[in-house]
Amino acid sequence: MQQFDVAVIGAGAAGMMCAAVAAQRGRSVVLIDHASKLAEKIRISGGGRCNFTNKQVGPENFISANPHFCKSALAGYTPQDFLDLIRRHSIAWHEKHKGQLFCDQSSEDIIEMLRAECDQGGVHWRMPCEVKEVSRAEHAGASLFTVHTSVGSIHATHLVVATGGLAIPQLGATDFGLKLARQFGLKVIEPRPALVPLTFDQETWAPFGALAGVALQATVSTGPGKRAQQFFEDVLFTHRGLSGPGILQISSYWQPGETIALDLAPGQDLSAQLLQAKAGGKQQLGTFLSSLWPKRLAEQWLGDQSTLRLADAPDRVLKDLAQRIQAWSLVPSGTAGYKKAEVMRGGVDTKGLDQRSMQARSVPGLHFIGETVDVTGWLGGYNFQWAWASGVACGRSL
Ligand code: FDA
Repeated sequence: MQQFDVAVIGAGAAGMMCAAVAAQRGRSVVLIDHASKLAEKIRISGGGRCNFTNKQVGPENFISANPHFCKSALAGYTPQDFLDLIRRHSIAWHEKHKGQLFCDQSSEDIIEMLRAECDQGGVHWRMPCEVKEVSRAEHAGASLFTVHTSVGSIHATHLVVATGGLAIPQLGATDFGLKLARQFGLKVIEPRPALVPLTFDQETWAPFGALAGVALQATVSTGPGKRAQQFFEDVLFTHRGLSGPGILQISSYWQPGETIALDLAPGQDLSAQLLQAKAGGKQQLGTFLSSLWPKRLAEQWLGDQSTLRLADAPDRVLKDLAQRIQAWSLVPSGTAGYKKAEVMRGGVDTKGLDQRSMQARSVPGLHFIGETVDVTGWLGGYNFQWAWASGVACGRSL
């Protein structure tokens, strides 16, 4: 019989962090993962350089049915704390766009750091190891979890579920965490792909498919009233729809059937500029728009109007054009799905969890951390910061 204080299922970002913290506090910890290669999502993240956190992290950067839930864990383990850790491991890093922090060399540095932290605490590894079933029984006045695995049964006083979300099933993502939550009577907020490209039906997209590869800065918004959300970021045309950081961000807020609106000339008064240029004379519309946009986009957008001289264009036509560019309104038909999503939105309902220990209120000893939980970060290092912070909060409580 293998008996531990803590069994962590899922040796990804949150699971390794939690295991290391608990083990360094003197707990006996076993870390179980079905993959043969460690932490594949960290490896591929940030284009191979892992955008491991962001300089500015607050609850406003996260989506959850309960937006207050993440506050305690985020306050207890900050980006500065993670930077202190990577400095101790002499990992070089740099800041990019909007406070995003990346490794100079490779995301392997982060994986090796977490592995070393686990080893320092004496974490026991079971990997690759399939989990077949989990049960819980009262034993001498305390509850004990039994994890039935492909390498035998493991008993533990605390079970931490850190199996991540459903994004990128080709890398071994599973719904294990959601199933286990339901098995123990916890509620699950419906999961959906997030940070994902948006797609459009063939008819809507026919005029734009040829623009695949074109990128430009835009303001993207969605949602009515209090749910209104807006991002100013790059947008990328693809064969099936729109992608790029601005679209990935808004996709996490978009609800099926809702409109997204794009301002493709952000910060400008295009109508006034067009009317002013008209007064200036001979310039063609295509030439004018190409000074703001990639030429391919300007030509495709204008079609026959491309060679129209501004001087010959009625004011109404110019105002109309400006309106279509600055308030381009579209209804996506869907998303590119979990195969292309960076994360899953939704997950284990935080109402059933204690925000300091991530422990299920109704099942003492059972904890959920990381992406399995209904806390989804923006693009830009926020999802890893949640993984670290929730892992540490849980690890410290064990
Ligand atoms: P994570 O997915 O890291 O780990 C889960 C672990 O559980 C895996 O090791 C898996 O094998 C294991 N597992 C799953 N099911 C199991 C089962 N049934 N039995 C046993 N083990 C099981 N975020 C960010 O902040 N900055 C970034 O740069 C990026 N970049 C990025 C790129 C791409 C392409 C993707 C897909 C995602 C990102 N992310 C990101 C998101 C980030 O990778 C993600 O939010 C965290 O890895 C979540 O950490 P977890 O530990 O919760 O899950």
